[in-house]
Amino acid sequence: VNSALALTSPHRSKQISDTVAGDPDVVDLTVGEPSFGPPARLLDALAELTAQRPEEPSASYNRYAHSRGTPDLRSAISGWYERAYGLAVDPETRVLVTHGAAEALWTVVFALTDPGDEVILPDPCYMLYEPIVVALGRTPVRVAAAAEDGFTIDPDAVARAAGPRTRLVLVNSPANPTGAVCEPDRLAALIAVAAGRGLYLVHDEVFDCFSYVCPHLPAIALPGGAESAIVVNSLSKRFGMTGWRIGWLAGPESVVAAAAKAHSFVTLAVGTLIQQVAAVALADASVDDEVARHAHLIRDRGRDLLDRLLALDLFECTVPPGGGFYLFLRCARLAGRIGVPESESASEAVAGHLLEHARVASVPGIAFGPRGEGFVRFSYAAPEAAVDRAARRLEALGAAMTQAVP
Ligand SMILES: Cc1ncc(COP(=O)(O)O)c(C=O)c1O
Repeated sequence: VNSALALTSPHRSKQISDTVAGDPDVVDLTVGEPSFGPPARLLDALAELTAQRPEEPSASYNRYAHSRGTPDLRSAISGWYERAYGLAVDPETRVLVTHGAAEALWTVVFALTDPGDEVILPDPCYMLYEPIVVALGRTPVRVAAAAEDGFTIDPDAVARAAGPRTRLVLVNSPANPTGAVCEPDRLAALIAVAAGRGLYLVHDEVFDCFSYVCPHLPAIALPGGAESAIVVNSLSKRFGMTGWRIGWLAGPESVVAAAAKAHSFVTLAVGTLIQQVAAVALADASVDDEVARHAHLIRDRGRDLLDRLLALDLFECTVPPGGGFYLFLRCARLAGRIGVPESESASEAVAGHLLEHARVASVPGIAFGPRGEGFVRFSYAAPEAAVDRAARRLEALGAAMTQAVP
């Protein structure tokens, strides 16, 4: 086995969700999968296309797509940046369609770094960042995204952490696991640091349409971003289609050319049919309203869950969620109540306690990096009934704990 790969292990979050999958007694708040599905426009396009039986097997969707993505989908992606931000992104040279944001992240790290190079990651951060960097034999350098700093990374700290072998800075806004939004000023300052050091800033914006505190802006739309930033995005969260595996990256021409080369060696191209129907839905501005409606529902669900969890007096919210699907709550009080010894991880113990005593699955914050210790993550993207059931169980647990106090 590749020795760098051997250094990685399955992520804790995935381990927990795999363990509880199929157990009807557990309410699973580990996974960030939206409770809604793809827009009707997309499913109608799929039905129309696959109804074209007489043309088989020559129907275009049976054939390999262009390895950078179908021209229609690349145009739709470019059109989306134009419609949302007035931003021109050349679909021919600056867009690459990938198997979800996950493949885009892998490809960008692979294509822009050599073994031994450093990649700056926030601490805590999304579960895939560190294993991708480590499995590729690159070195992760963690920069604090501390609660006191709104769970975002400080541009000065990035400047201090960047050394001669640093090539990339990976940021995620709105963020998983914290729900933090890196406001445009701070993102622009991070781009300035990256540009000054000859690095690229990679902005993972998969939660772009779930930004609740300020309008989302992709790094490529900010000053210096056209040259020094790359965005990674997907339809997984936007259209509730995590299982379809469709995403993209957009950035400077030379970056996209290198990434496209790597992508074609790994996968040749993304599925043609999926791209064709994704293009129809993404190009249709009327679908944006449906996406906004879904985002409001999810936001309200999160606010309701937060209020109910805070009322238990077992968790604290240091940074109110600004976007995304997750509550990242401090759990020291609950850890104290259940008597977790100092030598143990409070977040692991609390997540274990909630699973055992309330049958609610959450993810210990330490799974996202050392500075995630002391927090637990709850996803509120699950269907409303499931989130409500989890809240009722946690309320019952809280009531039982209050009664147990002598
Ligand atoms: C921050 C972040 N980036 C990337 C991904 C992967 O998304 P995709 O399904 O598009 O591969 C996720 C999935 O949860 C995520 O939370």
